[in-house]
Amino acid sequence: CLLACLFLWCLGDSLYSHGKLQKPTIKAEPGSVIPYGRAMTIWCQGDLDAEIYFLHKEGSHNTQRTQTIQQPGDKAKFFIPSVTQGHAGQYRCYCYSSAGWSEPSDTLELVVTGKGTLSGLPSPVVPEGGNVTLHCTSHSNYDKFILTKEDQKFTNSLDTEYISSTGQYQALFVLGPMTTNYSGTFRCYGYYKHTPQYLVRTRPQSIALTFPLGPSRKPSLLSHQGHILDPGMSLTLQCYSDINYDKFALYKEGGADIIQSSSQWTKAGLSKANFTLGYVNHSTGGQYRCYGAHNLSSELSASSDPLDILITGQIYDTPSLSVKPNSSVHSGENVTLMCWSMYPVDTLILSKEGSGQPPLRLKSKFEDQQYQSEFSMSAMTSTLSGSYRWYGSRNSSLYLLSFASAPVELIVSGKVMLSSQMDVSSLTSVTSVSNTTAPENRDHTMENLIRMGIAVLVLIVLSILAAEAWQSHRQTHHAAGK
Ligand SMILES: *[C@@H]1O[C@H](CO)[C@@H](O)[C@H](O)[C@H]1NC(C)=O
Ligand SMILES: *[C@@H]1O[C@H](CO)[C@@H](O)[C@H](O)[C@H]1NC(C)=O
Ligand SMILES: *[C@@H]1O[C@H](CO)[C@@H](O)[C@H](O)[C@H]1NC(C)=O
Ligand SMILES: *[C@@H]1O[C@H](CO)[C@@H](O)[C@H](O)[C@H]1NC(C)=O
Ligand SMILES: *[C@@H]1O[C@H](CO)[C@@H](O)[C@H](O)[C@H]1NC(C)=O
Ligand SMILES: *[C@@H]1O[C@H](CO)[C@@H](O)[C@H](O)[C@H]1NC(C)=O
Ligand SMILES: *[C@@H]1O[C@H](CO)[C@@H](O)[C@H](O)[C@H]1NC(C)=O
Ligand SMILES: *[C@@H]1O[C@H](CO)[C@@H](O)[C@H](O)[C@H]1NC(C)=O
Ligand SMILES: *[C@@H]1O[C@H](CO)[C@@H](O)[C@H](O)[C@H]1NC(C)=O
Repeated sequence: CLLACLFLWCLGDSLYSHGKLQKPTIKAEPGSVIPYGRAMTIWCQGDLDAEIYFLHKEGSHNTQRTQTIQQPGDKAKFFIPSVTQGHAGQYRCYCYSSAGWSEPSDTLELVVTGKGTLSGLPSPVVPEGGNVTLHCTSHSNYDKFILTKEDQKFTNSLDTEYISSTGQYQALFVLGPMTTNYSGTFRCYGYYKHTPQYLVRTRPQSIALTFPLGPSRKPSLLSHQGHILDPGMSLTLQCYSDINYDKFALYKEGGADIIQSSSQWTKAGLSKANFTLGYVNHSTGGQYRCYGAHNLSSELSASSDPLDILITGQIYDTPSLSVKPNSSVHSGENVTLMCWSMYPVDTLILSKEGSGQPPLRLKSKFEDQQYQSEFSMSAMTSTLSGSYRWYGSRNSSLYLLSFASAPVELIVSGKVMLSSQMDVSSLTSVTSVSNTTAPENRDHTMENLIRMGIAVLVLIVLSILAAEAWQSHRQTHHAAGK
């Protein structure tokens, strides 16, 4: 206490008659916003003549809150090995020498982040007119949470409530109906009523407004690496549109973050952006949507169609497969691909290698002590040739798959039929299984036949014309010769 009294006395004194020491500067390293548990340093830099530095935390009247460093020189270091919410607050430093006290430094506001969460429910992407609930939680028993928008256009506070099932303190802020006013970045601050300066800040949460039927058409989303990925593979999703968006946003269903990426305008007249998701693991699996956006606005376009990303090897099982009648058929014939698993799976998924189309999800039946499913393709065409694999998945996590079955290599021998009935049926079969085939690989047999026919006709017409010209030339020549 003696030190504290001495300090406060000196402090009071300093307000009226501070000595010749220059005003110190105060600085936090790595920064004044610091994640919970991280080590940090507060530096005070003052006069070379300083003998002692004092670091004082605003609002505290005991010595524990005032650290002293007996360190002659122009700099003192106050090291905090692990930051807790108790460290959050406003700091100033002073230095002392035989000449007297320095002026106080400017105030350093230390904010501790991360011992709390903020999420937008059911999703941070909210349609115009919809509602969103911003959910602030913390394990610390704060009395209140403040929710603020980064542009300061919105602030609200609520008392916390204790949720015994999760052991957390929470506050639920309901925003809505959504207008452009609510789009932007929000944070929650937890605090105690008696020490309102001990703010603890959550990570930021973007809330974005979408226009479901709005002025802008929806963009398209594709995966460069297909829909089914092995863990450790690297994944890049691309969003594009024929509207000149400045940037695109990507959101994974149930996720916390809306990722943004600025777009490039291609020669073909498309705006495009890549989202590099890096090396995939089980947490990458899910349903993604992208949105177009403009700079200086946090509103998003209508969403793209959803894109499912499935991750293999997450269920310890490898399904078995067979093909009926066999993997080598003539075009026009039927093929059935069958799959079974010894382990419980709710769906069996059939995927064609290199196909841009989403894989087929088929419900499994439990029969003969096995979970099985089959897929029949009628009137095969050569476009259906290729490598097929099966995977199993469970309802509890739709995007996590078993290991891949062995591949089956379907070979459809191209027997060209001239009967129009066969051409019609082969075209129907392409549409009926279009989900497993890339549309750009359509069978062009009919088109090619028509083209060849036209070419032959043109040749015939040309030769008739040539013959006529030769004939008339000969007649003219003959007449002239007479
Ligand atoms: C949003 O909340 C308001 C009041 O809480 C309610 O009247 C309205 O129906 C909700 N809108 C939607 C789209 O759920
Ligand atoms: C946005 O907020 C301002 C100020 O609160 C209000 O005057 C304005 O009407 C709001 N606009 C919309 C679209 O809600
Ligand atoms: C996106 O990624 C693809 C494949 O990795 C690459 O070919 C393309 O140039 C990238 N586009 C942009 C706009 O970065
Ligand atoms: C999975 O990937 C995410 C994002 O890349 C990463 O944050 C997370 O730590 C990874 N999880 C595991 C178990 O490797
Ligand atoms: C939008 O912002 C990005 C990044 O800040 C910038 O590179 C781009 O030029 C901006 N586009 C427009 C049209 O202002
Ligand atoms: C595959 O089945 C087709 C039609 O059932 C048959 O013509 C062909 O001989 C079979 N090929 C093999 C290798 O069994
Ligand atoms: C192929 O399947 C279709 C319909 O599923 C059926 O009408 C047709 O008779 C089958 N063809 C052969 C050769 O089995
Ligand atoms: C799995 O989901 C499908 C489709 O929602 C449903 O028909 C099926 O009964 C579910 N299976 C189990 C075991 O819950
Ligand atoms: C195939 O795609 C069409 C529309 O693209 C869809 O209506 C149909 O349900 C899909 N079939 C299967 C088996 O997924």
